[in-house]
Amino acid sequence: MSNTKAPQDTCVLVTGGAGFIGSHTVVCLLEQGYQVVIVDDLSNASEKVLDRIDQIVGPEAAERLSFYRADVTDREALDCIFDAEPVDAVIHFAGFKAVGESVQKPIEYYSNNIGSTLTLVDAMREHGCKSIIFSSSATVYGDPDALPLTEESPKKPATNPYGWTKWMIEEILRSLVVADPEWDVVLLRYFNPIGAHPSGLMGEDPKGIPNNLLPYVAQVAVGRRDAVHVFGDDYDTPDGTGVRDYIHVMDLAAGHVAALAWMAGKTGCEVFNLGTGTGTSVLEIIKAFSAACGRELPYVIEPRRAGDVTANWADCAKAREMLGWEAQYDIADMCRDSWNWQSHNPNGYEG
Ligand code: UFG
Repeated sequence: MSNTKAPQDTCVLVTGGAGFIGSHTVVCLLEQGYQVVIVDDLSNASEKVLDRIDQIVGPEAAERLSFYRADVTDREALDCIFDAEPVDAVIHFAGFKAVGESVQKPIEYYSNNIGSTLTLVDAMREHGCKSIIFSSSATVYGDPDALPLTEESPKKPATNPYGWTKWMIEEILRSLVVADPEWDVVLLRYFNPIGAHPSGLMGEDPKGIPNNLLPYVAQVAVGRRDAVHVFGDDYDTPDGTGVRDYIHVMDLAAGHVAALAWMAGKTGCEVFNLGTGTGTSVLEIIKAFSAACGRELPYVIEPRRAGDVTANWADCAKAREMLGWEAQYDIADMCRDSWNWQSHNPNGYEG
């Protein structure tokens, strides 16, 4: 049975808490009064995020945050953390996330993403903590037969090892609940998280050439790259470019806090889509970002990218009805905040 304590008495362990979605969720948790423990090996995140979190939440809330630099595949490190901290629930973000890289390095992706999850849940079980929220992805829906996607829409074969790890970890966590009904599992399927903290102090900071559309567009806007490469303009969509359900990272963070509050005292496994319910094309994104940064961003049309689906967007009714959560920010807000972050931190956290 998961805990039903008040936020100030609840300790949440956040794996990958220094990453893009993790750091924004940590801010939301601290602002709601939770005790937060970040576990992150900083392999794809900057330690500077921790200072930015402190700056945003202020000294009083920052006292409720602790940080361990550790790899979630390191069982000994996890045992030390669970011994030291009274963890009530875990939000598990940590994992490798580059789709293209996962095709080149399947062993690393399967071993890291699945291995770390198994290590984590085994450590949790041993320490009597059986509440977990997992970062899943709309990628588990594959190429949809019908839109919008509800939580009942079928899971489809993934098109890359990264997608399979999300797919399989969902099944692993479901199996836990079948074997031991004390487990309390929430699978959150994110659509396309973008945007940044409205303060401009935190945002997405990918290493190397961004794989995802928004960080690439933001780097074109700030002059780090010449033009946006649009992957395909011959899809069966209104303007021929791919359509996605982009969601502000602040809304996503709030979705985690809503799920955490909802799951308290429950057992079982529940899945929620976190999206806005609205599809936006690549060209619409370029237009919205151009408006946000005040200049027409150049783009070139390229062939389709292997593995991309034509369109997806979420049906968000379940999260609205059960979690009382709904996205608040629109595309203009997302581009404004992303531009605010990128223009103040042209080289990310190291800039
Ligand atoms: N795109 C471009 N140019 C780019 C990058 C992307 O035109 O430089 C297009 C893509 O073809 C697609 C859209 O922009 O139509 C969005 O692409 P992203 O790479 O930003 O996002 P994806 O929808 O491919 O993938 C995202 C996450 C994955 C997750 C998936 C779930 O990155 O982790 O959503 O649907 F699995």
